[in-house]
Amino acid sequence: MKVAQFAQYGGPEVLDIVEAPDPHPGPGQVRIQVRAVGLNASDWKLRSGTLSFGATLPQGTGSDVAGIVDEIGEGVEDVVLGDRVFGVSDDHAAAAEFALLTLRAPIPASLGFIDAAGLPVALETATRGLDQLAVTHGMTLFINGATGGIGSAATQLARARGARVIGAASAANQSYLATIGAEPVIYGDGMSERVRALAPDGVDVALDVAGNGVLPELIALAGGAPQRVVTLADFQGAEDHGVHFSNGFKDGNAFHAMHSIGELIESGRFWLPVEKTYPLADIREAHHAGEHGGIRGRLVLVVGGAL
Ligand SMILES: NC(=O)c1ccc[n+]([C@@H]2O[C@H](COP(=O)([O-])OP(=O)(O)OC[C@H]3O[C@@H](n4cnc5c(N)ncnc54)[C@H](OP(=O)(O)O)[C@@H]3O)[C@@H](O)[C@H]2O)c1
Repeated sequence: MKVAQFAQYGGPEVLDIVEAPDPHPGPGQVRIQVRAVGLNASDWKLRSGTLSFGATLPQGTGSDVAGIVDEIGEGVEDVVLGDRVFGVSDDHAAAAEFALLTLRAPIPASLGFIDAAGLPVALETATRGLDQLAVTHGMTLFINGATGGIGSAATQLARARGARVIGAASAANQSYLATIGAEPVIYGDGMSERVRALAPDGVDVALDVAGNGVLPELIALAGGAPQRVVTLADFQGAEDHGVHFSNGFKDGNAFHAMHSIGELIESGRFWLPVEKTYPLADIREAHHAGEHGGIRGRLVLVVGGAL
């Protein structure tokens, strides 16, 4: 099969499309014919060597994936051949013609492969963060980094829980933030004052998605209480300021959210935009665009046939 991989750490130029043996599912796994792969920040962190899942080189790339089940491992009873599923590649190697999945769910009927491929990690991470902050009806939540994949998901999931959301993003993404249900503020100098102009008494809780070193500001906005702040991206800041760093491996994951998202999508309360698609052959260009930032929702690689 064709697979995207890197044999050394570095920029997008280390990615190559090579031939590799077709994988086959072990117990609990299914193999899918990949149709679309959603890109995540972890893809460029792994490729550049700033994050490690204990993988050895050469290493594939891509977690979020959607496709059609074409082989089933021992003990798998929740799917049959031909099912449309979305989920997470077991070996972070979804950008290929075939991928092996343990974590998966049926694609909601109203979604195509491209839209489904952007969802799993964003849904899981956003749901975990909101659960850890106990976000519920009537609360006011501040999200730092509300327009990317996780931020867009967290904003809409919090709104669906009945929370008020104030979200920070760049100037270019302010109107987008409003369309997904957040009251927008621009990040950078003066951000706290802009949040307080909307919420003079501060917020109940804050979720840091961007990880740009503003945890002290978020703590102050949340009444001076570090326990009312969760960060998904600022590991050092969490240690320095007594904030919880949310980690799906240690804390337990929230992939169950993939099974219930269809209802929110079909009632018009959830939408994760796909800003642009790329053929697998253009994976270097896709990584470059994702790493450069400013994306609303997700970028998606299109791998196989009909969508
Ligand atoms: N802990 C976990 O379990 C976990 C799981 C998955 C991912 N993550 C991490 O979560 C982070 C976000 O992932 P993602 O896929 O949502 O990324 P993304 O799609 O690239 O989104 C990044 C967000 O941060 C904002 N941003 C960029 N620069 C900023 C700045 N200087 N100040 C404030 N906001 C800024 C962006 O806004 P604009 O585009 O408007 O600039 C955007 O809303 C990544 O670091 C990723 O590694 C953590």
